[in-house]
Amino acid sequence: MSPTDLPAAGGASGAGAASALLTVRGLQKSFGDNQVLHSVDLTVERGQVLVLIGSSGSGKTTVLRCLNGLEHADGGTVDVAGELTLDFAARPTKKQFNALRDRSAMVFQHYNLFPHMTVLENVIEGPVMVQKRPKSEATDEAVAMLERVGLAEKADAYPFELSGGQQQRVGIVRALALKPQLLLFDEPTSALDPELVGDVLRLIKELAAEGWTMVIVTHELEFAREVAHEVAFVDGGRIIERGHPSQLLRDPQQERTRQFLHRLLFPF
Ligand SMILES: Nc1ncnc2c1ncn2[C@@H]1O[C@H](COP(=O)(O)OP(=O)(O)OP(=O)(O)O)[C@@H](O)[C@H]1O
Ligand SMILES: [Mg+2]
Repeated sequence: MSPTDLPAAGGASGAGAASALLTVRGLQKSFGDNQVLHSVDLTVERGQVLVLIGSSGSGKTTVLRCLNGLEHADGGTVDVAGELTLDFAARPTKKQFNALRDRSAMVFQHYNLFPHMTVLENVIEGPVMVQKRPKSEATDEAVAMLERVGLAEKADAYPFELSGGQQQRVGIVRALALKPQLLLFDEPTSALDPELVGDVLRLIKELAAEGWTMVIVTHELEFAREVAHEVAFVDGGRIIERGHPSQLLRDPQQERTRQFLHRLLFPF
């Protein structure tokens, strides 16, 4: 399944209009007294990939969770495809949060599969229980997607019977099964043994080539260089630098970005 199978978003805006799939302005979030996001601005064009990098605790996961409605931001706006705008200062309704969740799907660092459900049940849970789609249709699609990622024979297995790489591929299929407009990946390979990282990154690259719009938090710099249309460096709850991967990863303009990349390349 590719995003071109989905109904075209943007409808009335017509050809020539700006084709941003995601526009975030002034996103703010505090946990108690701890202001984690100060003012985050992002734009991701339709079919493009934005990679977020930044130190531990800088707010990357919180940004993704706000984009998926798992956290309620305190301020700022999120617009998806010019069709759905949440103004957090004005307290979006439950219906708006549900609409946001319907348009975005998250792939988690630790897979977050339901342990008591089989692979197939994990994949169809969202489409059937949340989106109220017919179970037979959701099952057929799930089986086809599991086949595509080489996991058809694991459909009836439980997560604990799978390797981390297999679990994460199920996590990706589960996200795709929701037919979202936007895919969010939170360090999708950081919990994997090194030899399992490649399969997952290859799958994400294939999805990018198929035209999925994605925001990916990753510190796999070579992967970021290949897959990203833009890389943004998050520091202290702000995006302090962004640019084309060939520029930002090779010749960052900000000292903080330079230090971060240096630490990543020379950890010892
Ligand atoms: N549910 C929460 N309650 C309280 N504080 C939180 C919560 N979630 C995140 N934080 C705090 O927000 C800050 C940013 O966390 P976040 O997980 O977004 O960082 P990150 O950039 O994803 O870090 P990492 O690279 O370690 O995953 C941290 O100081 C964290 O302790
Ligand atoms: Mg994180």
